[in-house]
Amino acid sequence: MASTSPLSALLSIISSGVQTLESAYSKDGLAFPSLDDPFRPTPLDQDAALAETRRLIVAAAAQLIATVRSPVEVLQEYAPGMYMTATLGFVEETNVADIIKEGGAQGLHVKAISLRNGVDESYLARVLRFLATRHVFKEVTPNVFSNNRISSLLVKAKSVQAINEDPVAKYDGAPLASFVASSADVALKSVHLFSPFLQNPGNAAAPFNIAFKTEAKMWDWYEEPGNEWRARRFTAAMKGGGDRFPPQLFTSGIRGDALSPDDVVVDVGGSIGSVALALYKAFPNLRYVVQDLGKQIDEAGKFWEANAPDAVSSGRVLLQVHDFFTPQPVKNAAVYFLRVVIHDWPDHDAKKILSNLRDAAAPSSKLILFDSLAVYSCEDPSSSVPKKVPYPLLGNLGIGGAGFATGLDLQMLTLFNGKERTEDEFRELGRVTGWKLDSVTPGPLATMVFSVI
Ligand SMILES: C[S@@+](CC[C@H](N)C(=O)[O-])C[C@H]1O[C@@H](n2cnc3c(N)ncnc32)[C@H](O)[C@@H]1O
Repeated sequence: MASTSPLSALLSIISSGVQTLESAYSKDGLAFPSLDDPFRPTPLDQDAALAETRRLIVAAAAQLIATVRSPVEVLQEYAPGMYMTATLGFVEETNVADIIKEGGAQGLHVKAISLRNGVDESYLARVLRFLATRHVFKEVTPNVFSNNRISSLLVKAKSVQAINEDPVAKYDGAPLASFVASSADVALKSVHLFSPFLQNPGNAAAPFNIAFKTEAKMWDWYEEPGNEWRARRFTAAMKGGGDRFPPQLFTSGIRGDALSPDDVVVDVGGSIGSVALALYKAFPNLRYVVQDLGKQIDEAGKFWEANAPDAVSSGRVLLQVHDFFTPQPVKNAAVYFLRVVIHDWPDHDAKKILSNLRDAAAPSSKLILFDSLAVYSCEDPSSSVPKKVPYPLLGNLGIGGAGFATGLDLQMLTLFNGKERTEDEFRELGRVTGWKLDSVTPGPLATMVFSVI
């Protein structure tokens, strides 16, 4: 294989992947979605084999670009990377994608956008051109922009008029818009303190704490007066969590089929309980407890009322305010699970959370973590699930495989001094808190199953 040049090998990964995608779509009577059209879901979006094909194409294309592009240009693109976050945040805040959508498929002139959101048209044109150059929005004719496949996901769930009438509820029903807006708000406002923090980590809990002049954890700060809109935006982002990953990831992850009727499953730090809802739908004969801080549980009440009105009143689902740094009130549950919670915390806090669960557990209880797995960018012979990637790709498929997880890792560092962990780090975290790591199932989120030691 090494006799093939890296460029040719990358090209052949791309061309065979493209053939696979095109033939899968044409077999289903579909054209491959165009970048120029708004996103429309298709059944093939969730196909696991095609998702791997897409990852390989992205990994190879990104590596091809890094290989052929002048390294000077690569650094000139990477160094001002903050403008991507800043411009996405700006268009989200000023409802640009929403205004364009209401303007029709042919796109809107920046003058017309300016009339609706009050932003100077020349600023709008420059921001939108920066984004269109990176395939977010399309410049149809000079200064006329339409939504494309990517920018259409910035559209919120309400009309611009409804957004303006109730700004606190602006992000309700719009998880991706909420994620983009949070990244451009709390994270971007903290990240300039990244390097000083890493060089002097003893001076604060995280860059976030220095930026917002608070000793509170971001979660507790969200609960403070004045931050209601941020808490609400965060909840909106978490509501999408149920849809972002195939529900099967969680239903097979907790192995509900192997549980007995009325066994108790606790969604620890569950926010509104979007994972518990997917489980409840799949295994309605189990009992569920969703635990979180006060504001999240308030929102959880509305969420369950809208999505499974009988679940709470019948007693199958309990929504419980519980701080996971205090003793776990639900003893001997069949399953305690945490989705994307442990990555929010540094080791000393993660240990307290898992120890509290171990203290409450029965000998047969399982602890299940759904979290991103940090994967080395080179080959990892010690992994229990070693992955052979095609030559000459990176061991973690670069941005095709670990782009989001490595970005999230640094976001966790910036906001909480939290981190994405490797398999060995999870095993060790379990070992010191009385849990044995039995299995790791890789995926868009890895599933780590622990039993009591
Ligand atoms: C990244 S979110 C994950 C939410 C949920 N597991 C999901 O995947 O949708 C982390 C959650 O931990 C909750 N949390 C933070 N500190 C907590 C504490 N001390 N006790 C209980 N929950 C807490 C937050 O309110 C938030 O809902």
